[in-house]
Amino acid sequence: MKVLVTGGAGYIGSVVCERLREEGHDATVLDDLSQGHREAVPVGTELLETDLRDRRALRASLSGRSFDVVMHFAASSLVGESMKDPGRYFENNVSAGINLLEESRRIGADRFVFSSTAATYGEPERSPITEDFPTIPTNPYGESKLMFERILDWYVRVRDLRYVALRYFNAAGASGTCGEDHDPETHLIPLVLKAAADGGKVHVFGDDYPTPDGTCVRDYIHVLDLADAHLKAMEAMDRGVGGAFNLGNGAGFSVTEVISAAEDVTGRRIRKARAPRRPGDPPTLVASSARAEEALGWKPCREDLPTILESAWRWHREHPRGYGG
Ligand SMILES: NC(=O)c1ccc[n+]([C@@H]2O[C@H](COP(=O)([O-])OP(=O)(O)OC[C@H]3O[C@@H](n4cnc5c(N)ncnc54)[C@H](O)[C@@H]3O)[C@@H](O)[C@H]2O)c1
Repeated sequence: MKVLVTGGAGYIGSVVCERLREEGHDATVLDDLSQGHREAVPVGTELLETDLRDRRALRASLSGRSFDVVMHFAASSLVGESMKDPGRYFENNVSAGINLLEESRRIGADRFVFSSTAATYGEPERSPITEDFPTIPTNPYGESKLMFERILDWYVRVRDLRYVALRYFNAAGASGTCGEDHDPETHLIPLVLKAAADGGKVHVFGDDYPTPDGTCVRDYIHVLDLADAHLKAMEAMDRGVGGAFNLGNGAGFSVTEVISAAEDVTGRRIRKARAPRRPGDPPTLVASSARAEEALGWKPCREDLPTILESAWRWHREHPRGYGG
């Protein structure tokens, strides 16, 4: 299949590109490199350096090309930033997405795989979270992703589009060559590994939650398992499968558990600093991925925490300054 991968110079998109190539698909990356890295684009994969917000530039970039499927990873994804600058999130995650949907018609792509998020649920009172839980986002980031899911629903109804929205929980780990290099980094696992490497402290935001050790519990899913779900989603759309699917491990680990597992994997002591709770951080977010298992035929197979941490640690050791170093 010919696949256009927006955001393919970013963390998850680059790993998906690698997997697409390994499976014999033809991937082309479209990325403005605002947060991504040229070095993350797999060797031999074409990079169209284009900002999705610029409709004219997008049309020019895609002119004369055709694709079967669009995988749409490109987005702004920082929850805290979205509370300070909501316009940026609605522009990049909604308006730019509409540009892409409209231009997708011109390139013949009628199948769409969208990177959605657990943030569409807001702060659910129970776990595991299934797709029929209420979607009540508590920040503009989650709202922008939910809005785009709803827009996709309308394109299914009024145009001949098929889509799968994958609601990721916490992506983590690395492939052999691609890993996580965000600036700023807000994700726990790379921050913990950085602290292991340079002796800095990890902030633990809240230790009085109603969880077994008082720290927040999250569902960490290996980026290679996420990548496999994208390939399955692409095939499943041909069988008429569509809609939103959770992608998680179905098991939660607390911040304290992640830190102590990282100490085991790295063989180093990791210093912690207590910090107040962050507004909008629910105690526990764990996915039920039963629907993805049934409809996509997908199941995570790298679910234990040490496996995820070891892959990320290996990548960090080989790239101590990320893609720049
Ligand atoms: N990382 C996670 O744990 C996680 C969890 C849930 C959902 N998601 C979603 O998955 C997707 C990928 O996440 P990631 O961690 O790989 O993010 P990332 O920031 O590493 O990658 C996003 C890529 O999109 C590009 N981009 C952003 N705006 C663009 C634009 N206007 N035009 C062209 N390119 C643009 C960036 O340069 C970057 O390369 C995002 O949509 C994110 O919201 C990620």
